[in-house]
Amino acid sequence: MGSRMRTGVLGVALVLGVLASFTLKAQEASLKADPVHGKAISYTCLGCHGVAGYKNAYPNYSVPELRGQHPEYLVAALKEYKSGERSHFTMHSQAEELSEQDMADIAAYFAGAPLSAGHVPAAQVPDVASLCVSCHGADGVGITPLYPTLAGQHADYLARALDEYQKGARKNVIMATFAAHLTSAQMDALADYFSKEQPSLQTLPRPATRISAD
Ligand code: HEC
Ligand code: HEC
Repeated sequence: MGSRMRTGVLGVALVLGVLASFTLKAQEASLKADPVHGKAISYTCLGCHGVAGYKNAYPNYSVPELRGQHPEYLVAALKEYKSGERSHFTMHSQAEELSEQDMADIAAYFAGAPLSAGHVPAAQVPDVASLCVSCHGADGVGITPLYPTLAGQHADYLARALDEYQKGARKNVIMATFAAHLTSAQMDALADYFSKEQPSLQTLPRPATRISAD
C-alpha cells in the first residue's frame, strides 16, 4: 500500500487529463469530414482493409478492421503512421500521401456508424484487463473518440499492437505505460478477451469495381 499505488493513480489521472485536451482537438478537426470524398480516395486502402482475412506478410498478422471504429481515432492513427510514431512501412507510405482533410474524409467513410457502448461484456473482465476497461470499455467500445474500440478486432493484431507499445515501435505514451509490464501470455489473454466482444468491428466491404473520383 502507499506510495506505489498513489503514483499509479496519479499517473492515470495525468494521462486522462492530457487526453481530455486531445479529445477536444480531435472533435473540432472532425467536424467537416466528407465521407463521399473519403470513399472516392480509398480504393488502395480497400486492397488490404476491404478483404476479410487479409494478413500482413512479415510478420504474419491480420490487417485491422476499421468499420465501427471511432473516426477521430482513425485520423490519429494515420497521423502517427505519417509522422513515424508508429513504425509500419506500408502504412507510412500510405499515410504520407494524405492531407489532414483526406484523413478526416477517409476516416468518416471507413468508420461508418461507430459501435455504441453499453453491451453486456462477453465474459467476466479478467483481472489483467481491469485497468484497460476504464478506457477501452468492459464491452470493448472506447469511452472517448480517441480511445480505440477493441471489440471484435483480430486477436493477433491486438497482441501485435501491445507488443509494439511495449517495445517502442509504437510511441504512444499512455499505451507504453500500460503495456510495459505485460508478459506475452498476458498480451494474448487480453487480445483474446477483447477480440471476442460483440457487436464487433468489421472489415469494410470491398467494392466490386474501381471507384472513380468524379
Ligand atoms: C498493403 C496493405 C495495406 C494498405 C494498402 C493499407 N493498409 Fe492500413 N494497415 C495495414 C496493416 C498491416 C496495418 C497494421 C499496421 C500496424 O501493425 O501498425 C494497418 C493499419 C491501419 C490503421 C490503424 C488501425 C488501428 O486500429 O489502429 C488505419 C487507420 C489504416 N491502416 C488505414 C488505412 C488507409 C486509410 C489506407 C489507404 C490510404 C490504408 N490503411 C492502406 C495494411 C494496409
Ligand atoms: C488511459 C486510457 C487507456 C488505458 C487505461 C488503456 N488504453 Fe489502450 N489505448 C489508449 C489510447 C489513447 C490508444 C491509442 C494509442 C495510439 O494512438 O497508438 C490505445 C490503443 C490501444 C491498442 C491499439 C488498438 C489498435 O487498434 O491499434 C490496444 C490493443 C490497446 N490500447 C489495449 C489496451 C490494453 C490491453 C490495456 C490494459 C492493459 C489498455 N489498452 C489500457 C488508451 C488507453
